[in-house]
Amino acid sequence: DWTPASFIETTVKELKAKLGNDRVVLGLSGGVDSSVAAVLLHRAISKNLTCIFVDNGLLRKDEFQQVLDSYQHMGLNVIGVDASQKFWDDLAGVREPEAKRKIIGRDFIEVFDVEAHKIKDVKWLAQGTIYPDVIESVSVNGPSATIKSHHNVGGLPEKMNLKVVEPLKLLFKDEVRRVGKALDMKPELLGRHPFPGPGLGIRILSDVTPEKVRVLQEADAIFINGLKEWGLYDKVWQAGVMLLPVQSVGVMGDERTYENVVALRAVASTDGMTADWVHLPYEFLAKMSNEIINKVRGINRVVYDISSKPPATIEWE
Ligand code: XMP
Repeated sequence: DWTPASFIETTVKELKAKLGNDRVVLGLSGGVDSSVAAVLLHRAISKNLTCIFVDNGLLRKDEFQQVLDSYQHMGLNVIGVDASQKFWDDLAGVREPEAKRKIIGRDFIEVFDVEAHKIKDVKWLAQGTIYPDVIESVSVNGPSATIKSHHNVGGLPEKMNLKVVEPLKLLFKDEVRRVGKALDMKPELLGRHPFPGPGLGIRILSDVTPEKVRVLQEADAIFINGLKEWGLYDKVWQAGVMLLPVQSVGVMGDERTYENVVALRAVASTDGMTADWVHLPYEFLAKMSNEIINKVRGINRVVYDISSKPPATIEWE
């Protein structure tokens, strides 16, 4: 029978045998999968594991520092690299979603490669790939085939000449969370919503600028913290805010404004392959709308996305 405890015992044993005294590098994203993979590997090989966490300038508000702190608390050897400016520079003026994804993926590999090469004699690249990632990348499922290639940092192992180790490859998300719990990881970390690798870069429809990132980070933080305060966060699989490439007229005092529109999105799902929009309480939506419009300069209109997947996707691009 599969239990988290037996999985951990077997996997740690296998990892020890496979990796011996080799050095391993792992890219942390702040998400559940890479974090559980890191803790599991740390159990098996301890200081021979080095983790790299890249700030691509497209993370949630304050996320880089918070995540870095929590990893360090767990005793992991983590290197944090702030590469925001590089990503913003390379994304300047690029509107096409697939082009943005490619740039973000390529920049990530470049930054990661430079840092990983500073680790002497590194032989393995560890990844937090889980079973649905494996399925999604082989299924002909429209754009998600390319989507997941970045998620799994495609091209990286070949470029770096590393062998790949993926200890969670046969698990589903709920099993990963149970393994994390059995590894004593914090519920706040294990309960985190999924977040796309290209981050806010694909939630800014149209070109990315640091100012748009700031606006979206502020709106997103209000929404996510609101969900937590209202006890709704754990009832939702994933939530976020999209910055639309639309401006609309509004009034502020006696002034006419012409500002941006954001869409709030919250979905229920078990694996991200299908999803239903969540019937969030009107009072909550009203509160969020007020707060975002009053507090975030640059936004004068908030809408709520009531589309399910399929035919809509979770992200907008
Ligand atoms: P969609 O938008 O296809 O998303 O319904 C399904 C799940 O995948 C995430 N997603 C991505 N993850 N790179 C990623 O690592 C991407 O380019 C990407 N696009 C979507 C999305 O957040 C959702 O959890």
